[in-house]
Amino acid sequence: MTGTAEIVAEDVRDMFKENGHEAELLLMDDLDPSVFQRQGTFLVCTSTYGQGDVPDNAMKLYNALEKDRPSLKDVRYGVIALGDRAYNETYTHGGQRFDKVMGELGATRIGQVCQHDASGTDVPEEVGVAWARAWLKELDAAGA
Ligand SMILES: Cc1cc2nc3c(=O)[nH]c(=O)nc-3n(C[C@H](O)[C@H](O)[C@H](O)COP(=O)(O)O)c2cc1C
Repeated sequence: MTGTAEIVAEDVRDMFKENGHEAELLLMDDLDPSVFQRQGTFLVCTSTYGQGDVPDNAMKLYNALEKDRPSLKDVRYGVIALGDRAYNETYTHGGQRFDKVMGELGATRIGQVCQHDASGTDVPEEVGVAWARAWLKELDAAGA
């Protein structure tokens, strides 16, 4: 909504490429669940808004996953969940919502969910890139 998730995703994509991986950044706006039929491993990078909701541009994709319930059994994914601890009841729930529904639909998460707290002092793209470097090793270990 204010660009943080996009900056994190861009820097993570650039780091993947610098390390010799193919990586593509897709904004969620026009996506539907068929995106998960693509080859590769998915990294969902999302903020949190409203009452612990996904941001506006992720609503269509998230709601379609919840409603259509496609099988994601061949999908492997990670999550970078941005939030703010000031919203303690719903901290990073946007990313956690994606994690929950994708798990229910049979997808396999690699690694722990990366969380970033906007009320702290850590720079979001630094947190995301550091986490993603470790995630690459976990992908290797998982053969993904
Ligand atoms: C109106 C508003 C509502 C928010 N609601 C939540 C929330 O419920 N839970 C949470 O963890 N963060 C919440 N946040 C914090 C954002 O998710 C966080 O600042 C994030 O880094 C913004 O990413 P973006 O720049 O990609 O939109 C909210 C922020 C705003 C401005």
